[in-house]
Amino acid sequence: MSAPATTRAIQALRPGGPEVLSFGAIPLGRPGPGEVLVRHTAIGVNFIDVYQRAGLYPIDTPFVPGNEGAGVVEEVGEGVTSVRPGNRVATVNLRGTYVERRVAPESSLVAIPDGVTDEVAAAALLKGMTAEYLLRRTHAVGPGTTILFHAAAGGVGLIACQWAAALGATVIGTVGSQEKAALARANGCHHVIDYRTEDFVARVKDITGGRGVDVAYDSVGKDTFPATLDTLRPRGLWVSFGNSSGPVPPFSPLILSQKGSLFMTRPTLGHYTATRAELEASAAALFDVIRSGAVAVHVGGRFALADAADAHRALEARQTAGSTILVP
Ligand SMILES: NC(=O)c1ccc[n+]([C@@H]2O[C@H](COP(=O)([O-])OP(=O)(O)OC[C@H]3O[C@@H](n4cnc5c(N)ncnc54)[C@H](OP(=O)(O)O)[C@@H]3O)[C@@H](O)[C@H]2O)c1
Repeated sequence: MSAPATTRAIQALRPGGPEVLSFGAIPLGRPGPGEVLVRHTAIGVNFIDVYQRAGLYPIDTPFVPGNEGAGVVEEVGEGVTSVRPGNRVATVNLRGTYVERRVAPESSLVAIPDGVTDEVAAAALLKGMTAEYLLRRTHAVGPGTTILFHAAAGGVGLIACQWAAALGATVIGTVGSQEKAALARANGCHHVIDYRTEDFVARVKDITGGRGVDVAYDSVGKDTFPATLDTLRPRGLWVSFGNSSGPVPPFSPLILSQKGSLFMTRPTLGHYTATRAELEASAAALFDVIRSGAVAVHVGGRFALADAADAHRALEARQTAGSTILVP
């Protein structure tokens, strides 16, 4: 059985709102040397897909969005040795996943182990590998560490807070609704703050007895800057890793001195999975915590691939909790 010559895909036709996403058939190539044809069974939606669609992270249009997908190998090109047709695989951080079938380099594939469904792999890989490097490599979180994690009921947040708790940390999470508060509390957060209705700086000071947290993980960006800096202890670490509310505005390094000789990093997953060994180690650590039960993956929303624009609308309107997936 040979693969079709076209595949149905979402394309971003120009930078803009969710309405620039268009569903239709595009040509499907054959796997060349070192390449593999994958049929997607589940596709992860991530906030980076929104930045790329909107043009905050510029990409030449038209392009196929999506940075995470899971499925089954249908065909392999010459010289491919690590996978064969029928194997379950995922790609992460390789753009172009809002599509039924794609050709991907063998070197980009992550094997999905037994005990992890395709849906969980698509829901967790990019978000969970992000949690992995944030908690283990940006800073070594462990017993005795107190962290603040903004958007704790989000896709990255729910995984990271469970993982941080499993590492022995005290976890303070912020959320935007009471429903999300309950979810965060059930998924690793020892303390939950509704930052839409409460002063999160005052609450963190109260919870930590005036000391402040060791690490503040902030993916909200514009709306939580600079207040997040006031939640840190002297010489604490501010990890700015996203822009869900918009980018952090330019600031003077002097503010880090004024707020307590703080450290700051602005990391991204690609630099923590730059080598094949790092990619494999990060994925393996994630699959370990999923299979041990330390981290449960919460799929809060499922949309048909054709309805990707609706998934983006929900994500941008803060209506999602946990991970969102597209079903081809
Ligand atoms: N640097 C990296 O390596 C890396 C990798 C992966 C993800 N990220 C970042 O991590 C963050 C989480 O990603 P995700 O895909 O899991 O998304 P998500 O957390 O599921 O969704 C974003 C959440 O941010 C909160 N938020 C606060 N203000 C918002 C606003 N004005 N607009 C939209 N959302 C707002 C909302 O939660 P509440 O309603 O609870 O406020 C919302 O649900 C994103 O910023 C993403 O870019 C960074």
